[in-house]
Amino acid sequence: MTTPPNLPQSFVWGVSSAAFQVEGATAEDGRGPSIWDTFTAKPGTIRGGHTAETACDHYHRYAEDVALMAGLGLTGYRFSIAWPRIQPDGRGPVNPKGLAFYDRLVDALLDNGIAPTPTLFHWDLPQALEDDGGWLNRDTAERFADYAAVTADALGDRVRRWITLNEPFVHMVWGYGTGEHAPGRALMLECLPVAHHQLLGHGLAAPRLRETGEVLIANNCTPVWAATDSPADRAAADAYDALHNRLFLDPILLGRYPDLSAFGASDDLGGSVRSGDLEIISTPLDALGVNYYNPSRMAAPSAGAGLPFEEAPIDGVPRTAFDWPVVPDGLRELLVLLETRYGAKLPPIYVTENGCSVADEVVDGRVDDADRIDYLDGHIRAISDAIGQGVDVRGYFTWTLTDNFEWAQGYHQRFGLVHVDHGTQVRTPKASYAWYRDLIAAQRS
Ligand code: FCB
Repeated sequence: MTTPPNLPQSFVWGVSSAAFQVEGATAEDGRGPSIWDTFTAKPGTIRGGHTAETACDHYHRYAEDVALMAGLGLTGYRFSIAWPRIQPDGRGPVNPKGLAFYDRLVDALLDNGIAPTPTLFHWDLPQALEDDGGWLNRDTAERFADYAAVTADALGDRVRRWITLNEPFVHMVWGYGTGEHAPGRALMLECLPVAHHQLLGHGLAAPRLRETGEVLIANNCTPVWAATDSPADRAAADAYDALHNRLFLDPILLGRYPDLSAFGASDDLGGSVRSGDLEIISTPLDALGVNYYNPSRMAAPSAGAGLPFEEAPIDGVPRTAFDWPVVPDGLRELLVLLETRYGAKLPPIYVTENGCSVADEVVDGRVDDADRIDYLDGHIRAISDAIGQGVDVRGYFTWTLTDNFEWAQGYHQRFGLVHVDHGTQVRTPKASYAWYRDLIAAQRS
């Protein structure tokens, strides 16, 4: 970083995490089982057979982690609340010990000038609700709203910014479409009601949270490129854009679902949409959370394929250890696209996730993650460019503070600014930690 990027003085600097990926203590203080506990216990689901029983032991080491955040000079921490700690069965009685953990965490953050920004659902559904159909069951949306209300009652005196859901697209596709994530159901396009019920849960929870603060949703968004200019490739790109981006943004911002006819689906999403639902879902947002990792490139499908698109490679760019293409300008492109597409209906944006996995190693007590620094520098500059083009971006939460449990990849992907030895729990700040700290200080001065 030569000169700091041109960002507003009030810009929020943060890191982002998720309960199941960092907390551990999965059987402690009355926490109920979640779909991810069930899924990770099944042989063959997680690379290396890893589980999140200990993860980063954040449940016990949160004070050390908050001190690391304070050392960065952060003004925001996006974490998630584990629904099965608050309501072990997903409904009914509240578990006071579960709430007490988030009470301590919120207080520790506020003591350090860091605004707590909890996400209420980052994929760890209470198993008891999955046993009743999970997000395929409309009732889960109502249960989510109740859980949001009890959480707002307990923490709403101190939390001023809430995020309802994390990446409903990814949860629907991997969890219920292909089965590579919990709950491991492979329903292909029959998973579409999962989109609607998650969005309905968001809409039902929003007014209960808004009594105490701002309400956001964090969507995974990607600019979609057509592999060539041919009409068939462009149609494939449009179809993918409808599924990945518009299915989760149009109903919230425009009050209607996009055209899904390329999927042979009607706009009532498998009959799940009832009269009045879209009014609930489109209750105004205070801000939009955008999670961005990479663009997508789509081509027309081969004959006989079940989907109206086929992924095409993005060549000629660096790749992360996860093999994801690195395209920082894709973030500028995405932010400008959202502004162009939704105009006055688009609320201010926070980039609520962005980061990369690197095959980091500790050598003589140091981790030289130059690739991560390049990645972050490029993406933060892309935000500054988007602001220059008129997009209202208010903050950046990088994924993530500590190397953690990366879902189906177990501990194989390291996304943190801080290296974690998963045997000893020793935390070693990487070069990117010092870089982010210095960037934040330089931008403020
Ligand atoms: C996002 C998830 C987050 C993390 C990053 C790498 O899709 O929201 O939990 O796994 O990817």
